[in-house]
Amino acid sequence: MTNGPRVAVIGGGAFGARHVAAYQGLGVRVDALVDSDAATRERVAARHGIPHTFPTVADLLAAGTPDAASVCVPGSAHRAVAVALITAGVPVLVEKPLAATVADAAAIVAAAEEHGVLCQPGHILRHSPAHRALHDAVRAGRLGQVLAVSSRRDRPRTLTRLFPDDHPALLTAVHDIDLALWYAQSPVLEVRATARTRPGSATPVLVWAELRHANGVVSSIRNSYLLPEHTPNHTSDLVEVYGTDGVGHVDLAQPTVLVQADRTEAPDWLLSPADGGGALAAEIRHFLRRVDGGEPTAVVPLADGLHVVQIAAAVADSAAADGAPRRIPPSPSLTGASADDPT
Ligand SMILES: NC(=O)c1ccc[n+]([C@@H]2O[C@H](COP(=O)([O-])OP(=O)(O)OC[C@H]3O[C@@H](n4cnc5c(N)ncnc54)[C@H](O)[C@@H]3O)[C@@H](O)[C@H]2O)c1
Repeated sequence: MTNGPRVAVIGGGAFGARHVAAYQGLGVRVDALVDSDAATRERVAARHGIPHTFPTVADLLAAGTPDAASVCVPGSAHRAVAVALITAGVPVLVEKPLAATVADAAAIVAAAEEHGVLCQPGHILRHSPAHRALHDAVRAGRLGQVLAVSSRRDRPRTLTRLFPDDHPALLTAVHDIDLALWYAQSPVLEVRATARTRPGSATPVLVWAELRHANGVVSSIRNSYLLPEHTPNHTSDLVEVYGTDGVGHVDLAQPTVLVQADRTEAPDWLLSPADGGGALAAEIRHFLRRVDGGEPTAVVPLADGLHVVQIAAAVADSAAADGAPRRIPPSPSLTGASADDPT
């Protein structure tokens, strides 16, 4: 398809390549790839037939403005990249977390508000059919009044090696924090957390957190990076919602395809398949419909993306302070994590 939007993907690493495949699977032209690493640029552009590549966002913008862009650089670079694109009027889908710090996330929100440009936080699980079905049940009142949310996410030890500077609260627990906001339908006021490290290391490999929401819901979040190398992602993921009239859960711990040979493999075709599709394609389809004005309602309001970063930062802070509670000041712009907010 040559009509339709011309999209740029910023960051051609592991997840940026999945964005490229997802756009192309939807028949959308990925016109440009930006990556500061020349070898990555060339490899990913050649594999996916992307006509233009640039080392920086400034170079991309100097050559012309794309109709939309995915920001898939590491979290510490989200602010610079997203603000440059937003300032140039380019709608952005920013991978999770919205930014690596609260100040960076607030700067992205301020730029989007100042320039009136769409910024969609990349909380992919709100686009997963199973997680949406549980949300639909909650919203329909089938579980009664929600009392508590619980979630588990175990990952291989590889993550500590690949992302030594990223706190698990911001790297992976942001998925669970976002689900907690979505299912509790209420902002978080207070956080207590514990982190454990291996002897002789300062890098957390396990984080347990308790979130207290404004409406009284309590969310419990457990993330670890202790599984053997090559354990597939998602094969422990579990989220449970407890209500006055029942309990609902999404359990990804039983993959449909499991190959256990020299290593264990469970291809991901639910969330972000390597060749496109899944929840990532649904997220991108929603983003493009938001860009062209066909979808007035944000599945992930921008204020929720900021709030997730506030909560994750508070989790890391509480864990560093031996579980001391951390209060999160109520934000006047916060939507209350409603899926129906049109911002
Ligand atoms: N939604 C999910 O489930 C999910 C899963 C994995 C990663 N992610 C997110 O996707 C983003 C990318 O993660 P990844 O695993 O692909 O990382 P990665 O390290 O594999 O790739 C990042 C790429 O960005 C490039 N880069 C870094 N700074 C840049 C800059 N300023 N300008 C241009 N290019 C730059 C690097 O050269 C690298 O190729 C992160 O925000 C991460 O949190 C989301």
